[in-house]
This record gives sequence, C-alpha cells and structure tokens, in this order.
Amino acid sequence: MLKKIECIVQPFKLKEIKEGFREIAIDGMTITEVSGCGKQKGHLKNVKNNESINFLPKVKIEIVTEEERVEDIIDVIQRLAKTGQIGAGKIFVLPVEDVLRVRTRERGRSAIE
Ligand SMILES: Nc1ncnc2c1ncn2[C@@H]1O[C@H](COP(=O)(O)OP(=O)(O)OP(=O)(O)O)[C@@H](O)[C@H]1O
Ligand SMILES: [Mg+2]
Repeated sequence: MLKKIECIVQPFKLKEIKEGFREIAIDGMTITEVSGCGKQKGHLKNVKNNESINFLPKVKIEIVTEEERVEDIIDVIQRLAKTGQIGAGKIFVLPVEDVLRVRTRERGRSAIE
C-alpha cells in the first residue's frame, strides 16, 4: 500500500527536518510555501469563537512512500517540527491510488524506489 504524508510545519524548522529525512534515507519529496491556519484561526494565542481568520506562513512537505515507512517518517517530523508551542504543525496521512515514473513507465512501488 502506498501512502502520502502531507505535513504543514513552521518554515524555520525545514532545515532540521530535511536533515532528519536524509538520515532515514528519504529521497523524493515536494516542498511548498503555503499559508494556513488551524485551531487558533491564525492568531498567535487561543482565540474566541468569532475571531477573524488570519493566515500564517508555513511550509508544506509531501512525501509518497510505502506504508511500512510511514511511522519512521512521522517520527522524524514529530520530533524535529516540535516547538513546544501552538502552531507547530499538522501531519496528514492519505492513501495513494498509484504512482507512475514518467521516464521508465514503472508503476506503484517500483515507481518510487
Ligand atoms: N484541519 C485542517 N485542514 C487543513 N490544514 C490544516 C488544518 N489544521 C491545520 N492545518 C494546517 O496546518 C498548519 C499548522 O496548524 P497548527 O499547528 O496551528 O494546528 P492546530 O490544530 O491549531 O494545533 P495547535 O493548537 O498546536 O496550534 C496550519 O497553518 C494549516 O496550514
Ligand atoms: Mg494552531
């Protein structure tokens, strides 16, 4: 089974997370600069229910991988993205239907190995 890990983290944590991925030999990934908000609606402390929405700059990391690697990857992110404060990030795990490597026409697991 293929999975996609999509995580949104603080931009200043990207360098360390990238180093953590190198240590567990992760190859392919996509990084995007994004804006977002979570429970606090983009405010730097807890807010009231009717507070306006504010977007804060974050980095999104996307990795498609074999199911058996998911826990190791999550562990790296969890450990290295942690700030001890709100807004440190979120990790989503999604099922992936298929992967194709354009150059070789490989599909599925062999397309990401
Ligand atoms: N439900 C969601 N759907 C999509 N993206 C989300 C969701 N929640 C958070 N995000 C994204 O994750 C980023 C980081 O979220 P954040 O760490 O603030 O989550 P949180 O649930 O508010 O937790 P905390 O209380 O620790 O702040 C947000 O800026 C947003 O880009
Ligand atoms: Mg938050």
